[in-house]
Amino acid sequence: MRKKIILITGAAGEIGHALVEIMAEEFSGQLVTIDLQSLPEEVAKRTTHIQGDILDKSLLSRLVSEYEIDTIFHLAALLSTRSEFTPEAAHRVNVEGTLGLLQLASEQSEWRGLPVKFIFPSSIAAYGLPDLETKQAYARVREWEWNYPRTMYGCNKLYCEQLGIYFSDHYRQLAADKPIMLDFRGLRFPGLISALTVPSGGTSDYGPEMLHAAAKGEPYACFVREDVRIPFMAMPDAVKALIQLRAAPREALGRRVYNVTSFSMSAMDFYDGVRKYFPDAQVSFEPDLKRQVIVDSWPADLDDTQAQRDWDWHPDYDLERSFSEYLVPNIKRRYRGE
Ligand SMILES: NC(=O)c1ccc[n+]([C@@H]2O[C@H](COP(=O)([O-])OP(=O)(O)OC[C@H]3O[C@@H](n4cnc5c(N)ncnc54)[C@H](O)[C@@H]3O)[C@@H](O)[C@H]2O)c1
Repeated sequence: MRKKIILITGAAGEIGHALVEIMAEEFSGQLVTIDLQSLPEEVAKRTTHIQGDILDKSLLSRLVSEYEIDTIFHLAALLSTRSEFTPEAAHRVNVEGTLGLLQLASEQSEWRGLPVKFIFPSSIAAYGLPDLETKQAYARVREWEWNYPRTMYGCNKLYCEQLGIYFSDHYRQLAADKPIMLDFRGLRFPGLISALTVPSGGTSDYGPEMLHAAAKGEPYACFVREDVRIPFMAMPDAVKALIQLRAAPREALGRRVYNVTSFSMSAMDFYDGVRKYFPDAQVSFEPDLKRQVIVDSWPADLDDTQAQRDWDWHPDYDLERSFSEYLVPNIKRRYRGE
């Protein structure tokens, strides 16, 4: 009999680290992870790790011949800034990589007679507001509004959400026997802030970068204007949302893709928050106009009413608690050995 597993792609990344730790506690079966990178020792001992590429078809075939896949947390991706520099590579990893895993999940669902849960982290980058007046007028954007991304990453995310819905609801709709479909569930995350890892390649990274620089006693040049506002969330809440959405009963879910958020703040508010705990923080605002335009097109906040209603979503960490109980103590410990 094949062993039942949860598969986590992109496990060596910011969310992956945190998710593996929690899932290893909560899931009684085996975890299998894939990433181009190796895992740090403390994470690696909690999972069977495969260092490899999600685009490697023979690797995926070996996986399904060995395991029964119950759930896929598909985190592997090229993030927004990197995707803008290498859009074709982003399309390959973010779209073709996701398509390959959706096909694998479909075949698994059919073979075991039970839908595989496919949990997909999407992003505020799926939105695109045309100008600052509109951004101000539509302060809390709902899932179906302003789906006009202006980055390759945002296009990839929005399209993969649609692919996930297609594979869940319409795949092989003209075939005589409809297969058992997979069960796609997506989350549109705001900018995520982790105390334990330094971000790289995301366009919302100015917040966490400011904080990590302050803790290290280094000056930081913020690449967006002081007044630019987007939503954020502390990493433990992002992991909680992924796990909670997986556990929600299918019949409670009125959508396949949900906004989730915690607090919205401007870059200046972020600096004020950082200064409260690191009074010597040196931050200058030196907007990079190209990245600025991208952040300006993202909503100032997300409306996550439906996630609250359907699966009782509530973040544990509001702004105050994120800084005082999660970010600052962990970051201080990380850099100062406190
Ligand atoms: N961090 C955020 O603020 C944020 C916000 C919204 C959505 N997300 C999404 O959450 C997911 C995880 O984000 P993260 O912040 O942990 O990113 P990350 O860049 O820290 O991690 C991504 C991981 O994917 C791996 N990877 C990339 N290409 C791969 C490939 N071809 N095969 C195997 N592994 C590959 C990388 O090595 C990396 O470890 C991504 O899909 C991202 O788009 C992140």
